[in-house]
Amino acid sequence: MSVSVESHVSRLANDPGSISDEVNAFLASSKKLFINGEWVDSRSGKTFDVNDPSSDRVIASVAEGQAEDIDHAVAAARQAFEDSEWSRMKPVDRERLIHRLADLIEEHADTIAELEALDNGKSVVIARHVDVKLAIEVYRYMAGWPTKIEGQTLPMSGALLPDQSFVGYSLREPVGVVGAIIAWNFPFLLASWKVGPALAAGCTIVLKPAEETPLSALYLAKLVDEAGFPNGVINVVPGFGDTAGAALSSHPDVDKITFTGSTEVGRLIARAATGNMKKVTLELGGKSPTIVFGDVDAETAIAGAASAIFFNHGQTCCAGSRLYVHSSRFDEVVEGVSNIAKGLKIGPGLDPETELGPLVSTVQRERVMSYVSQGLADGAEAVVGGHAMETEGYYVEPTVFINTTPEMSIVREEIFGPVVVAEAFDDLDEVAAVANQGPYGLAASIWTKDISTVHRLAPKLRAGTVWVNCHNVLDSTMPFGGYKQSGWGREMGKESVYAYLESKSMCISI
Ligand code: NAI
Ligand code: MG
Repeated sequence: MSVSVESHVSRLANDPGSISDEVNAFLASSKKLFINGEWVDSRSGKTFDVNDPSSDRVIASVAEGQAEDIDHAVAAARQAFEDSEWSRMKPVDRERLIHRLADLIEEHADTIAELEALDNGKSVVIARHVDVKLAIEVYRYMAGWPTKIEGQTLPMSGALLPDQSFVGYSLREPVGVVGAIIAWNFPFLLASWKVGPALAAGCTIVLKPAEETPLSALYLAKLVDEAGFPNGVINVVPGFGDTAGAALSSHPDVDKITFTGSTEVGRLIARAATGNMKKVTLELGGKSPTIVFGDVDAETAIAGAASAIFFNHGQTCCAGSRLYVHSSRFDEVVEGVSNIAKGLKIGPGLDPETELGPLVSTVQRERVMSYVSQGLADGAEAVVGGHAMETEGYYVEPTVFINTTPEMSIVREEIFGPVVVAEAFDDLDEVAAVANQGPYGLAASIWTKDISTVHRLAPKLRAGTVWVNCHNVLDSTMPFGGYKQSGWGREMGKESVYAYLESKSMCISI
């Protein structure tokens, strides 16, 4: 059985006629690097093309930053970090500036959402009500922090010099110049997770967006310019990973590197950071379990399990890509999730009806399809899906696998597409053990009405976030990140602000 796409095919590409005047004007404008408050060409003069994933059409050309441009941007960020305009800015004024940026984002939210949909392939409705909305909240939440960053007083006993008296206290100071390297799945939102706390802490930033999706970061730079940040506080340098990204993560004058992307590249970044012992925050991959118990309300759990995997076409680090269902409800839940998959409206991002858009790139479609083919070759059964679509765009059918075994790559590895593996379980300890299998530990969801089940299972799960009767719920107050190989540190919340701060102990003999 497979999804029939024939009837949708003519609608799978975005209609260029439906692009707004604002977005057309932005696409037509020259897209340079934003360094030291100025738009500059790359030193090499090179550019790269940006494609619409629904049609493979080239929609923009962007200046390509490389090592020399990273040097230029890092020097600007260093100068801005040391310059008194930023370093001595009163916390309340830093707050005001971050709010000003949030105001401008809010003012241009529809344009940013449209740009994001066009560049990434996601639905414009999701881009507006998830990506851009949450980014605004992150900036506003972070705007509240500059006035609340505090040290402590330390009641010293002075054991080493008992005849003297001391006053001890600690200060929190910005870590310095931050390099931020982000992925393409939530481009504008991921930028906020890095730029927001870095600004709140008083750092300066060089942001390298993903080569697949540089447009909303350049739009952010336009708003940064308008908001009136001192030159060099925020710099945006689009470019590729092995050139611009590698130069940023190994740069001797960058104090902290923060990254969202694959575990493989996270490892390279952690290694590159050892040169000058940068502070490192990594938000990496996942293979998160959705765990459905026998007592659930079927409709809620089925809709939740489907959304856990198909949201953002499965290109979500915390996607519920392993579905574990109590054997008493397995057939019903798998059938329900498969029916939702069959009914998803597949289409381009700019169509507001779209529920499942194309993947971000041909590379990503091939990567996902190679997992799907391997799963089929290994003997798993696709209840629904199992194919790419015969279109110019990068579409893959939503796919539900059963009859899997733990050794299969579709069960063990992050696929990052609309593909879920479903397995039955019988008791809590058994499902805790399988849920914890594998190298990742980003998130998990538990679906049950029984509060004891929640409290018995949650402590056993090695995951940075445990959702109960929900999945993929993110909040600016809630630290997000992974156990095991899903990363180092947390994004959002107080913990992320403190990840951009150094602690200085003050010891005064009086
Ligand atoms: P990636 O990890 O290669 O790319 C993410 C970012 O890292 C991009 O900005 C890229 O330019 C940069 N980068 C790549 N190589 C680099 C290097 N040597 N040094 C510094 N920066 C570098 O991810 P990719 O190739 O786009 O996707 C591969 C897989 O990674 C996906 O299939 C998925 O499994 C996983 N992934 C996970 C994400 C998450 O949210 N945790 C996001 C994106 C991808
Ligand atoms: Mg890569």
